[in-house]
Amino acid sequence: MRDNILKGEAADPANDAIDNRIVGRTTDKTNNKIVDSTIDKGADFIVDSVECIADSKAWEPKIIAFLCNWCSYAGADLAGTSRLQYPPNIRIIRVPCSGRLNPLFIIKALIDGADGVMVSGCHPGDCHYLSGNMYARRRFTILKKLITAAGINPDRVHFTWVSASEGNRFAEVVAEVTNRVRKLGPNDLTGGNE
Ligand code: FES
Repeated sequence: MRDNILKGEAADPANDAIDNRIVGRTTDKTNNKIVDSTIDKGADFIVDSVECIADSKAWEPKIIAFLCNWCSYAGADLAGTSRLQYPPNIRIIRVPCSGRLNPLFIIKALIDGADGVMVSGCHPGDCHYLSGNMYARRRFTILKKLITAAGINPDRVHFTWVSASEGNRFAEVVAEVTNRVRKLGPNDLTGGNE
């Protein structure tokens, strides 16, 4: 079933121009540094991000966060510059808009070992591309049904809105998502840190 989902996804012509380009940023947990990276294959970066968290001995949730560049990523930046505390369990992948997010990226992250995935975009009405976040929300609703049918707990994925001025909200959402995924335990697909 999962294979069918992976193979059955149609290309989105509207996004072809940016399909091969994702700008990513990760936080190095050990050195507490921000690392920027620009890659041509988003899927490879997802694998790297998951593996980056997989080193710890005791199980800790590994959460991939896809953040839109214009609002949520700036909100995360504000949380950082404001020195707000939030769980170090997320690895951020910056996307131009939440509407850019191919749902396959979420499934790929889960298959590659992420225990949870968070997607955050601009609030309704604030999307820089007018309605990308609305498309994202619709896709996300369908994706939740698909992953449920594939045997993945839908609570492992979370969709939210965070604006550039909501550093506090970003920290709160990350804490909430991390707690929720922690309660669920390791991802059923991998059996933990693999
Ligand atoms: Fe932020 Fe579209 S630009 S969701």
